[in-house]
Amino acid sequence: MKPGQEPPWGDPEALQQQLGTAVIGKSLHLFNRITSTNDYLKSLARAGATTGTVVWADEQTRGRGRLGRTWHSPPGQGLWFSFLMRPAIPAEQLGLISLAIAASVAEVLTQVSGASFEVKWPNDVLHAGRKLCGILCEAQTSQDRIEHVVCGVGLNFSLAASSSAVWRQRSASLLEVSGKHLHREAVFLALLRAFDAALFGNLTATLPELRLKWCACCSALGRNILVTTTATTPHMFAGRFVDLGPNGELQLQLATGEIKSFQSGEITLRQEP
Ligand code: BTN
Repeated sequence: MKPGQEPPWGDPEALQQQLGTAVIGKSLHLFNRITSTNDYLKSLARAGATTGTVVWADEQTRGRGRLGRTWHSPPGQGLWFSFLMRPAIPAEQLGLISLAIAASVAEVLTQVSGASFEVKWPNDVLHAGRKLCGILCEAQTSQDRIEHVVCGVGLNFSLAASSSAVWRQRSASLLEVSGKHLHREAVFLALLRAFDAALFGNLTATLPELRLKWCACCSALGRNILVTTTATTPHMFAGRFVDLGPNGELQLQLATGEIKSFQSGEITLRQEP
């Protein structure tokens, strides 16, 4: 292990023993600092890493968010980690994985903090409209078969204090929301246990349930929203978020009555008339 890459939280084996999961975390890589846990895990995946491999870093120097955005990942202030899946599901169901992760995160955060959380399509977790967790799933497919998916989770723990006013308006941290000094390790272990139960069994059987769980935590469902597409020239569509498709697509009812499906995009709530 190179200097600056020592695990920040002691012995990985002790952490693994506490974990007690069936699949996730059997191979666990801990770093003080890394460029991006997603990037590092992608290279492990290409080299044949097993499903459930986890990379956790205290700091990321080039943390990435969706749509090529930077994910600010300073040391000591968040949970920045990625885990590997090799799911036996058709590639068109990939979108359900990040939704399932978001629903599991919302559930675990409620359990550990007592606060309430909601999910925002496609893959954010919010408290009172402010984001505190983002998920970045990156898949490698070949001929409609999924080779692997690198699932990155970024959870703000105590970031707000050091951040700009604009950031504080839009974002939240677990410390601020719960008012409790939760231990990062404990939350990390709780999240991995939840992912192990939800995502590493028979996914074909559990994905429909996970889809429903996501719908139950989504306050925008049934409401008027704006969808901004992520194409090079973005377009905006106004309508009612009427349903989540079987593969996690957002289904928007336009003013004409037509239902339009979106696989990706950004949503914002509109004032109800
Ligand atoms: C988003 O909301 O845009 C997704 C943010 C995902 C951030 C996490 S932090 C761990 C993992 N490594 C990365 O570089 N990104 C993800």
